[in-house]
Amino acid sequence: MDEVQRFGISMPKKLLEAFDGLIAQQGYDNRSEAIRDMVRDCLLQRQWELPDGEVVGTLTIVYDHHTRGIEARLVDIQHDYGGQIRCTTHVHLDYDNCIEVMVVQGQGDEVRRLADTIISLRGVKHGQLTCTGVVALIGQQSEHTHHHDHDHTHHD
Ligand code: NI
Repeated sequence: MDEVQRFGISMPKKLLEAFDGLIAQQGYDNRSEAIRDMVRDCLLQRQWELPDGEVVGTLTIVYDHHTRGIEARLVDIQHDYGGQIRCTTHVHLDYDNCIEVMVVQGQGDEVRRLADTIISLRGVKHGQLTCTGVVALIGQQSEHTHHHDHDHTHHD
């Protein structure tokens, strides 16, 4: 369990008012929770850029399945990066478009390379890689202690 420490922050009044306005819009009840989330987000973003940080996230793409060869290319890439893609969900959106959401996990640079490879394919209209978490950071927070009855397989 992580010990919680208190500390004071000084900032200009106008900046604090703007901050309070923003977090009220976002639905935060108090500044501490908002600041904790921002600090985590900041740390995660940095970690995401480090080659040796293990990250978890989602890669979402929208593509035109009529584009010649795209489905075969996607399957090839997903087999090549099988270790980084935990699962894939595919929805046939309309006559032309498919949306595919991949849960990805691995070293930050490998996951980024995988995302770039897929997003740059001809026929992919839009793609977005979202960093949900860094395994080392999200795994050790006192307020996120989970109890699982089943065993997880760890890939350390
Ligand atoms: Ni489809």
